[in-house]
Amino acid sequence: MSADYSMVKAIESPNSDLIPNGKRIPEIEPRTSAVVLKNHFSGKLAFDTLHKAASKNGSCGEEICCGSIWMNLSDRKVRNRELVIKEAMEFIDQYYRSLKRWGTKAHETRAGQIRNEVENTGTYNMTETEIAFGAKLAWRNASRCIGRIQWNKLQVFDARYVGTAQGMFEAICNHIRYSTNKGNLRSAITVFQPRMEGRGDFRIWNSQLIGYAGYRQPDGSIVGDPLNAEFTEVCQKLGWSGQGTRFDILPLVLQGSDGEPKLFNIPSELVLEVPIVHPEFDWFLDLGLKWYALPAVTSMKFDCGGLEYTAVPFSGWYMVTEIGSRDLGDPHRYNQLEVIATRMGLDTCTNISLWKDKASVELNLAVLHSYQRCGVTIVDHHTATESFMKHHENETRIRGGCPGDWVWLIPPTSGSLCPVFHQEFLNYTLKPMYDYQEPAWKTYDWKKRSLHHNGVSRKFHFKEIARAVKFTSKLFGQVLSRRIKATILYATETGKSATFASQLAEIFSHAFHPQVKCMDDYDIAEIEHENIVLVVCSTFGNGDPPENGERFARELITMKLGHDREEIGSNERSRKDARAILRMNSAEPKPQTFERLCSVVSVASLASDVTNEDPPLPLSNVRFSVFALGSSAYPNFCAFGKFTDSLFGELGGERILALACGDELSGQEQAFKEWAVRVYQLACETFCIDSGISENDLSIRFHSAQKDESSVRFKPNETNLDISTRLGATHGRKVIPLRLKSNDNLLPKSSELATLNVSLTWKDIEWKEPIAFLPGDHVGLFAKNRKEVVEGIYRRLKNMPDRNQTIQVELLEEIPTIAGPKFVWNPHGKLPSATLDELFYSFLDITTPPTQQLLSVFSHRAEKEDEKKKLQMLATNTAEYDAWKYGKWPHMLEVFEEFPSVSIDAALLVSLLPLLQPRFYSVSSSLVYFPEEVHLTVGVLQFRSQGDNGPLHYGVCSNYLLNSKKGDVISAFFRSENRFHLPEEGNLPVVMVGPGTGIAPFRSFWQEKLAMSKKEPQGELLLLFGCRTKEMDLYHDEKEYMRRKEILTLLPLALSREPKIKKSYVQDRLLENDHAQHVFDLIVRKRGHFYVCGDCTMAEAVSKVLRTVFQNIGHMTPEEADEYFLHMQDDGRYHEDIFGITLRAAEVHSKTHESAKTQIEQQN
Ligand SMILES: Cc1cc2nc3c(=O)[nH]c(=O)nc-3n(C[C@H](O)[C@H](O)[C@H](O)COP(=O)(O)OP(=O)(O)OC[C@H]3O[C@@H](n4cnc5c(N)ncnc54)[C@H](O)[C@@H]3O)c2cc1C
Ligand SMILES: Cc1cc2nc3c(=O)[nH]c(=O)nc-3n(C[C@H](O)[C@H](O)[C@H](O)COP(=O)(O)O)c2cc1C
Repeated sequence: MSADYSMVKAIESPNSDLIPNGKRIPEIEPRTSAVVLKNHFSGKLAFDTLHKAASKNGSCGEEICCGSIWMNLSDRKVRNRELVIKEAMEFIDQYYRSLKRWGTKAHETRAGQIRNEVENTGTYNMTETEIAFGAKLAWRNASRCIGRIQWNKLQVFDARYVGTAQGMFEAICNHIRYSTNKGNLRSAITVFQPRMEGRGDFRIWNSQLIGYAGYRQPDGSIVGDPLNAEFTEVCQKLGWSGQGTRFDILPLVLQGSDGEPKLFNIPSELVLEVPIVHPEFDWFLDLGLKWYALPAVTSMKFDCGGLEYTAVPFSGWYMVTEIGSRDLGDPHRYNQLEVIATRMGLDTCTNISLWKDKASVELNLAVLHSYQRCGVTIVDHHTATESFMKHHENETRIRGGCPGDWVWLIPPTSGSLCPVFHQEFLNYTLKPMYDYQEPAWKTYDWKKRSLHHNGVSRKFHFKEIARAVKFTSKLFGQVLSRRIKATILYATETGKSATFASQLAEIFSHAFHPQVKCMDDYDIAEIEHENIVLVVCSTFGNGDPPENGERFARELITMKLGHDREEIGSNERSRKDARAILRMNSAEPKPQTFERLCSVVSVASLASDVTNEDPPLPLSNVRFSVFALGSSAYPNFCAFGKFTDSLFGELGGERILALACGDELSGQEQAFKEWAVRVYQLACETFCIDSGISENDLSIRFHSAQKDESSVRFKPNETNLDISTRLGATHGRKVIPLRLKSNDNLLPKSSELATLNVSLTWKDIEWKEPIAFLPGDHVGLFAKNRKEVVEGIYRRLKNMPDRNQTIQVELLEEIPTIAGPKFVWNPHGKLPSATLDELFYSFLDITTPPTQQLLSVFSHRAEKEDEKKKLQMLATNTAEYDAWKYGKWPHMLEVFEEFPSVSIDAALLVSLLPLLQPRFYSVSSSLVYFPEEVHLTVGVLQFRSQGDNGPLHYGVCSNYLLNSKKGDVISAFFRSENRFHLPEEGNLPVVMVGPGTGIAPFRSFWQEKLAMSKKEPQGELLLLFGCRTKEMDLYHDEKEYMRRKEILTLLPLALSREPKIKKSYVQDRLLENDHAQHVFDLIVRKRGHFYVCGDCTMAEAVSKVLRTVFQNIGHMTPEEADEYFLHMQDDGRYHEDIFGITLRAAEVHSKTHESAKTQIEQQN
């Protein structure tokens, strides 16, 4: 029955179709040498090629079949190093293949590491992800398991840090609590240390974590479970004595690194049991039957990558017949059939009454009914076998086979009523695997023990019992649970998401082992094996991910599309998706809006009918929640967070808390706080662990930063790095010290505004690498704060160091250890060694209004009671805070002026302020025309808050550029923006729409085009520009020159404040008939590219008007116009470069101020 590899080999010979008795034997499909497996009910054939990867010969031969021999005990010897290396290499191959990174540098490096480690030590340390991958795969490979469809949904607890039996016990309690989950059972495995040279094995002596004792009576009968009679005696020999009932839970016998078995009672509150009742027969209750909820196998070893993990409890849930037919029904177990048949009034004297069959059915029915009644997961044998058939089919399609042991897969009751009965299976061994091993008490050296214990059986120590019983969730919450990893991913442009992510980590550190990673630094290959992933991310551009989230986003899409293809095979949809992947992974322009990407994915996912029986989705074992930062001033509010949330869901992730959005304009911090506290509690509930901190304490921590004067200090230090290098290290950029060549105002002196043409050069700068950029790219600039603000703040600082002394900010950090927390001083993660002046001028943001958390810190340091109260109110009442913030938009000095009694420790303030972020500018020149230079077009920002009645505020960077002197060094970096480059085909027409400073990148375009036109004819370059008045027409003379050279076509200016001329904006001009016709010709007829640059609202309006142009001129329906527009995005012909809501900032601020005031009125 069990056809193993050697048998398959035998039947591969062409003449062996029939064995002598004429029975059919599996056929070999000649082309693929697949073994053909028939389903005798449906007649369907399955082709197995996977058996070719089988790792060892079974015990069946040509003459004999060992299919019903149920245990082949594996070797107990430590493996030699060659064998470990061989198997490790095979495993690591499988692992990297699964990541689709086989043969890569990473694969080679890892293989080399393992080889070295094994050669030196005889073993190696698997990564957590490798362990998780191996454990799941071993389940997938388990040919006797009927429940394998769930193989990918296995929680893996890595307990290799445990050394003692006591530690094992605590980890096992965690396992039981987690997987029991109050009856809603979850599959889990706990992995202890593997077998090693020179040391005894870690073992769990029990055959299951939970089991009933069997007491042998003088008359030979057994009270309890006969299966465990021998083990019960072992426990007694070790000093245990039970109550002597039929259902005494056995103690755990655990063997840690010292090789000595130790007894532990499982705390009763952890063991969930189900009393067995019948839906109709009331008398069933009188039988006094019960069974435990959690089947957790402990006797097997996990053979993975050459290593043997000899203690690996794993658990799932019961199939009813295991309890009803076997545990309670078998004559050599609880033997209940006769009692039940008698109570049913059946004739037990004759077989022909089928009393056993009838009683067995009722017993199974009672078990099912009882488990369901108590809300404990269980599956009936019909459902289990049906889903196994689906699994077999999926596996055959995806993997080329599915090893199956017919003898074990057929349920003990109603065999032929279940579909598996009619299916031929091929049984073979694949590694990694779970394998049988000799019971530990049989191999234990009892003689050595008696010597050790002076021949007297050691009594079960009272203290040990007390400790075991005293085990509480508290103990677990404080030490062990910190072993459960929680991965926190963030993507940020201006730093808020990163700050939130580290606050979240602080909370999670109370009960988990949090790891904060920027999406860009995260290896997506790990995601399938994560326990919890928490995402904190903002949105940029017009609905795009921040730059450091782009790669992750593309990888998620690739994962989704890849999975869909695997699932549905090659059909129309997958061909379309392939295009999408190709587009994203190639140098071709990416689609323009992320919304568009989302729509590709959602459409794809609609086609997949995800049911329980489909192959597991990649993230089906991952719990997640997303917090999205954004601003409701933008049309695509929190688009990237929404995208991530929906994709994680579509990839099978389990959402522990619904997506939460934090609107920058209203209560973002408060929304984050609420989400973070809730998600933490839910994560604790999910893993059945004590949160270790009350909700109230958590909220307090949020309001008042965890740091105070005692946990931060300045340490005198030295540095020989220049400021650009240190800025580069802090921000993870290649920062170049450029020199200011000129900063001319492009607007007439009479104008109240200034727009600068800034020219920066690297001519005299020593730089190791070539510096280059393309038209359309961005420059990031690091500005300096204004002197009057910095000096004003200094006057309010306590414990100021010498402002010219180089210092390092250090933080006192807690490190959890098994022996309790340890405190160490660590350098600040972002701030480099610098003088106080360097920190306040170049590294710290002192102009964005302070957060509520910082106001709370101030409130504790205000000397005057009224200031303290007001600060506390602002820190806790979001509406009041918003009204204050958006009314005044106060910088740090203004806050100090409003609260004169506040002063603060210098080091503390430095550690609490956010980083001053670089400002981006579009390159406004071409290297062809200005070699070794980059030009920028910068609008100088100055505004008054409080409805134009407040003090004058200066935009940090634009005013820094305005006030800088020729020759000053300005720290900068280049950022490639390949979504905004000119089309490679120079003959394609280009339409450019950019009012105000939105003209910036287009100047680089026309300069580049002029150079290109000397080599080959160029397509038309059409500019639509807008400004307030005629005299504000930026680069007027240069444009006229380009027009004369036939490089540029100029549409008439859109003028919004020119006296005597009707107000018009670029979008209005675009709609005018002649212009609309012209643009339509270039874009639709000649398949040109469309570029829009500047304010987000303007860009959104332009994109709408463009669709109206398609309708008006091309006679398209609104749907056709939308579709055409989407096509343009897909083809990379629609480009946006978004500066933010620059023009609407005042309007948005005042609206937000007003709505906060209304809210306050409602509160009162
Ligand atoms: C990709 C990209 C490209 C860009 N390219 C250019 C470019 O080529 N040219 C260009 O000039 N700019 C460009 N910008 C904008 C530029 O990066 C800066 O945002 C701008 O120069 C202002 O920076 P700042 O440091 O002077 O002002 P900040 O100190 O950053 O102050 C700006 C903040 O002040 C607030 N604010 C602004 N106006 C008001 C108001 N009236 N009332 C109340 N509050 C207000 C807003 O919250 C705003 O965020 C670009 C932006 C991006 C993201
Ligand atoms: C240039 C720019 C573009 C933005 N685009 C969007 C957007 O499309 N949708 C949105 O919800 N928020 C948008 N925002 C707002 C940011 O997402 C918001 O400020 C967020 O709090 C920033 O978080 P971070 O510091 O983690 O990057 C934009 C902000 C800027 C400056």
